Amino acid sequence: MIRFGYVIFIAGAFIILASCGVANETSLKISQDKMSIETLSIARQNGCLNCHNTTSSIIGPAWDLVSERYKNSPEARAYLINKVKKGGNGAWNDITGGAIMPAHETRVSAAHIERIVDFILSLKAEPTDSIKQ
Ligand code: HEC
Repeated sequence: MIRFGYVIFIAGAFIILASCGVANETSLKISQDKMSIETLSIARQNGCLNCHNTTSSIIGPAWDLVSERYKNSPEARAYLINKVKKGGNGAWNDITGGAIMPAHETRVSAAHIERIVDFILSLKAEPTDSIKQ
């Protein structure tokens, strides 16, 4: 009888530990999602979403494709921050047909540009996304 109670106790402890793990993961996911929603709203307020989307290319390249291209490049963060500040074209001609991104440094704060670029680099490309021809 004592043995049986002990087994129940251990099993209960495992269930509690396991559910704590799930709860932590869930709250981490929720806070990450909340950050992403806030960052997307900053991107919307600053006009980025007029030309960009996270998963499909509109006028500019889909941001998950941007992340996919630069994910292994240590200089990518600084390069992209500068590119958004200064604008330009040529990097995505296959998708954009040579469209130019306007400079943003006079209208969008450096802190916001950095936050949006960090968000872009955190995206993972969906296998179904493809480069628009
Ligand atoms: C008027 C349309 C337009 C707006 C507004 C715009 N972009 Fe772009 N964006 C583009 C185009 C076009 C390109 C492709 C440039 C190229 O081919 O070099 C681009 C490229 C990019 C890239 C990839 C750059 C590279 O060299 O790989 C990032 C990152 C990016 N945009 C972020 C942003 C952010 C952040 C904002 C808002 C602050 C923004 N864009 C606003 C049109 C736009």
